[in-house]
Amino acid sequence: MSGERTTTVLVGVTGGIAAYKSCELVRALMKRGYRVKVVMTDAATRFVTPLTFRTLTNEPVAASLWEDDPSAPVHHISLAEEADVFVIAPCTANVIAKIAQGRADDLLTTAALATEAPIVMAPAMNVHMWRDEATQENVDRLRDRGVVFVEPESGELACGDVGEGRLAPVEAIAEAVMAEAERAQDLAGRHILVTAGGTQEPIDPVRYIGNRSSGKTGFAIADEAARRGARVTLVTGPTHLADPFGVEVVRVQTALQMHAAVMERAEDVDAVVASAAVADFRPAEVARGKIKKTAAPEAIALVRNPDILAELGARQERPVLVGFAAETSDVESNARHKLEAKRCDLVVANDVSDPALGFGTDANRVAFVTRDGVEWLPMLSKRVIAREIADRLARLLGGADVE
Ligand code: C5P
Repeated sequence: MSGERTTTVLVGVTGGIAAYKSCELVRALMKRGYRVKVVMTDAATRFVTPLTFRTLTNEPVAASLWEDDPSAPVHHISLAEEADVFVIAPCTANVIAKIAQGRADDLLTTAALATEAPIVMAPAMNVHMWRDEATQENVDRLRDRGVVFVEPESGELACGDVGEGRLAPVEAIAEAVMAEAERAQDLAGRHILVTAGGTQEPIDPVRYIGNRSSGKTGFAIADEAARRGARVTLVTGPTHLADPFGVEVVRVQTALQMHAAVMERAEDVDAVVASAAVADFRPAEVARGKIKKTAAPEAIALVRNPDILAELGARQERPVLVGFAAETSDVESNARHKLEAKRCDLVVANDVSDPALGFGTDANRVAFVTRDGVEWLPMLSKRVIAREIADRLARLLGGADVE
């Protein structure tokens, strides 16, 4: 199984004076037992020769998209696939900008775009370049997409200036790589079911009662859990989102269908993350034909839908349960009530009264409510919130269960 395979760390070296420190980083990673491969930009080869890294790692060093030798063992896709963690240290402002834009004009940036592995960046540059608004905007964009930054330190810089911009200590970078390598496997051996999106409750063949859930949070959680080694089943209401890579996707329309799809699988799963906005009610009767304007009923009678999460919570052998509480008032007390009433291990609460947050947006501000208390997170992208939820989930499941 995956636990027996040596973890491969791809070290990207870009063209800054701190490139010589990458040699120490390579050694620090090898000392921790990782297999290390190096990819360099052309500018980086002006500071340190590929031969240095080749000798340190005992692996071929990748520097060009255009290898002369057709049998050369390196190319951008295989590099991207082999990597369990991709660390770019030192990372120049230029490479940060290119990766933020999705450019891929050399081997290193191509591998960054092609990899599914977590990316760690350790920037090193002149203080003014680091503080420049363009750089900071690019860093924020990459952070939102899940890139982990090991911030540069303050001190004397190679150019003579003083300020932040020095490469972080090698040990700090190695620690960040280690944390990502562990995180990349912390849900291995687990089966996680995620519900997402809103349900649609038909009134007649063309009309329905629905809600504004986009499914983005649930899809991000499913994607994150799969990246971290879990087997993931995503049961989703109608959304325009594409299937996350490596996830089994079950598409349903109504709450009753979602209920059936979840209950069928509930016994096989270790955890259920119920991020779907399941309609609490459905029309008592669905008209067989389209209701005519002239024959519109005065009112639509509703009946209650089953509460999937509460039903799972009431089971004797229940999986780890993560519920969601999208509230417009009394967020914390509602979430705490839900935690108890539905017997959840964690409730992710958010305030949907602010139109800039919650439904359909790419960012959100959530609180984690457990029996131990409430923890508010800052405003984060849904991708990063998914990572935070997966961190808690891994803890609740008690670490990887690798056979
Ligand atoms: O009680 P309320 O609907 O506000 O609870 C929200 C939480 O319960 C969410 O996690 C949601 O996915 C879940 N839920 C459910 N089945 C329902 C209604 C809500 O699983 N019918």
